[in-house]
Amino acid sequence: MPGTKPKRKKAARPRDLRTLRGKTILVTGGAGFIGSNFIRYVLGRYEDIRVINLDKLTYAGNLDNLADIAGDPRYEFVRGDIRDAAVVAGILGRVQGVAHFAAETHVDRSILSGGEFVLTDVHGTYTLLEAVRNAPGIEFFLHVSTDEVYGSRDAGFFKETAALNPSSPYSASKVGADRLAHAFHVTYGTPALIVRPSNNYGPYQYPEKFIPLFTTNAMEDQALPLYGKGRNVRDWLHVEDNCRAIETVILRGETGQAYNVGANDERFNIDVAKRILKLLGKPVDLIKFVPDRLGHDRRYAVDCRKLKALGWKREVDFEAGLEETVRWYVENRNWWLKIKTKSAEYKAFIEKNYGVRS
Ligand code: NAD
Ligand code: DAU
Repeated sequence: MPGTKPKRKKAARPRDLRTLRGKTILVTGGAGFIGSNFIRYVLGRYEDIRVINLDKLTYAGNLDNLADIAGDPRYEFVRGDIRDAAVVAGILGRVQGVAHFAAETHVDRSILSGGEFVLTDVHGTYTLLEAVRNAPGIEFFLHVSTDEVYGSRDAGFFKETAALNPSSPYSASKVGADRLAHAFHVTYGTPALIVRPSNNYGPYQYPEKFIPLFTTNAMEDQALPLYGKGRNVRDWLHVEDNCRAIETVILRGETGQAYNVGANDERFNIDVAKRILKLLGKPVDLIKFVPDRLGHDRRYAVDCRKLKALGWKREVDFEAGLEETVRWYVENRNWWLKIKTKSAEYKAFIEKNYGVRS
């Protein structure tokens, strides 16, 4: 009718294909940064969920990350290696789903020595997939991959169909794991779901990674070692947005498919470093330009429309999320001070990685 606007149909919210209600799930690497945030997230959201956390407690695994939920009757911790087929098989008999986070994760460490990355990220994932293949009753195997599998690009965004072109021993190992999960779906019908998130930030991130390292160094009036000219670009995603994305893919993702997860909010490293200093009231001259990371990917950027079509959207704005994160490190000084001052392993890595740069 002239003068009246045609009514727009509201897009229907995609329906859940699976449920986490009443389920027991295995979370691997749950004592690490994202895994611990994910366990806290699902226990808070699903009253009747049960979680078994299988973690080897490498240098990056820290039970302090879960201190507030350790006594929750719905939570159980098993110290073990994802490469231990017997341990994995024993747990799989008691669960209906797997969220697989366990990995060696730091690019700089993989440049110094890549062997553990191949063993854990590739062979560990293979061991889990083999065990899932032989365990009836597993409804999903959610594999946490990374946006680094695509490699770097100066402009535009990678869709999930783009060729994988990893640059570091870390990202190459993650490609191996990502494609194994896919291959098990194609070959054996394993209900694999893959997420490829961008750089996460938030509470409980090990202080070797950029944001916690720079925040805690600045708090101690120590130099912030910025690689190259600080002109590399990362797309920062709050860990809670990533947890929501993983939940979305578990509930509504199509098995065999990969889903990019990003905030589409790109920043130069130097701008993030300056922002951290501003939030802490520290001088810009704490930034120290140091020799670049070998093979340093200039920019990561992923197209997230496929995930958004499942009903996910970013909720945490970077400025607010960074402020809240910096505050968390200020308020939880003992958490990171314990690592930075008491861990011989941490000190040895810092010396190895930064000693040669100074
Ligand atoms: P993290 O390094 O903080 O934690 C890794 C955890 O895995 C630790 O608790 C460690 O003890 C455990 N682990 C390592 N090897 C193990 C093994 N063989 N058996 C059992 N447990 C083992 O890592 P994170 O930053 O929380 O990353 C989690 C996952 O998300 C990884 O798969 C990583 O590749 C992926 N990812 C991380 C980011 C990020 O920005 N942090 C972004 C995209 C993808
Ligand atoms: O993109 C997802 C990936 O993000 C994950 O798969 C990895 O597990 C995770 O570690 C992260 O990799 P990055 O290499 O991007 O993150 P990192 O925090 O190590 O570095 C972020 C940027 O900051 C990168 O461009 C390198 C730079 N940097 C980092 C450190 C530790 C510095 O300039 N100085 C530093 O000391």
